[in-house]
Amino acid sequence: MTPFPKNFLWGAATASFQVEGGIENCDWAKAGREGRVPVCGKACDHYHRFREDFALAKRLGHTAHRFSIEWARIEPEEGKFDEKEIEHYREVLRALRAEGLEPYITIWHFWMPLWFSESGGFKRKDAPEVFARYAEYVVDRLGDLCTHFATINEPYSHVVNGYVRGTWPPFKQFPYVTAVSLPNGNATTQVPYKNWWGFLDFFTVANTLARAHVLAYTAIKAKHKDIDLGIVFQVFLWDADNRWYNKLFARFQTWNMTTRFMNKVAPFCDSIGVNHYFYRRFGSAPKRDVSDTGWEMYPEKIYDSLHLLNRYKKPMYVAEVGVADARDVFRADYIRSAVEGTNKALEEGCDVRAFLYWSLLDNYELALGFDKRFGLIAVDFDTQERAIRPSAWVYKEIIEGSGRIDSSPYASTLRRDSVGG
Ligand code: BGC
Repeated sequence: MTPFPKNFLWGAATASFQVEGGIENCDWAKAGREGRVPVCGKACDHYHRFREDFALAKRLGHTAHRFSIEWARIEPEEGKFDEKEIEHYREVLRALRAEGLEPYITIWHFWMPLWFSESGGFKRKDAPEVFARYAEYVVDRLGDLCTHFATINEPYSHVVNGYVRGTWPPFKQFPYVTAVSLPNGNATTQVPYKNWWGFLDFFTVANTLARAHVLAYTAIKAKHKDIDLGIVFQVFLWDADNRWYNKLFARFQTWNMTTRFMNKVAPFCDSIGVNHYFYRRFGSAPKRDVSDTGWEMYPEKIYDSLHLLNRYKKPMYVAEVGVADARDVFRADYIRSAVEGTNKALEEGCDVRAFLYWSLLDNYELALGFDKRFGLIAVDFDTQERAIRPSAWVYKEIIEGSGRIDSSPYASTLRRDSVGG
């Protein structure tokens, strides 16, 4: 394996609501109070313990850290921004810099202020303008301490879970959802659409998110030429056996779930963050082990995700790969395989600049609550004690050997031609 470049960034990712604690004025907190998703409460209390957590990340050899800004803290009322909360994130950025960790900010990661969700969220007609105003404020106030920003995390996770499967706020469910079923929701809270055409929300909300990104990008770049601004996209990787109709379906889904959206936003991205969790093969498919979330594990397929998005010829960051594994029996191999897939993509010409594991800490895994443990660092949610998992030391060795690894279980399955689209 060719060594990674010297300035390649290594680290982990978190997101505000999942780790900070104490956020009560957003749609997910309300859904928790109503019993539709687990209550998040204090989470990891990272809002107060971020210094301690960054010191651990540094001990683990990390050189970068991805985190998100909580919109509900920054703009608690429509058009009113909270200086005190911006100052909090400035402190967070200073703490990262003090530990030598390069920050990568996600401006919006799934949850929204109540005033926005209650007035329609991304179905509001003026949602792109409202979002762009918030995004611009964030970069205006934090851009002197951070260079790398992404406007939106995983637009399709919000759209599919919120408006098709109905497992995340606003819980809209299309009755025939099994074709896009990805098992990360709790199945008790959905509200079926009254009419079949409710399903069109899937397209309208996705289009609105694309417009929100483009508007925010244009406004921000007009003022901040040197900021690296992009989006973080989760590739749902579709593949097929040799049957023509399966191949066709895989190609359609790749277009439907990736290129249709990315074609619109990529011209307005300086870089692209790539998240990888899911691979599905239509037709005959060999079975893999499953993680604690019940997801089959295909870490090496980050390789295909990177190749798929390399058509846009932008620098890319692996912004999330990760596994829920409370016993820590799969995680080290999972990371090895994902690093190897990333390395091979890099060797073959993809401009990959970072590898960020999801997640630094065990945290609130959305509709699945606190049992699904993705952390390099285990968290006891009663005492808030942190304990470094053995796999985190393996990751450290990989980082210090600049990504050189002895073996990964799935290396032989890496192949460039495996995805449709
Ligand atoms: C999201 C995270 C989430 C992780 C594991 C990604 O889709 O960005 O918020 O916790 O996957 O499900």
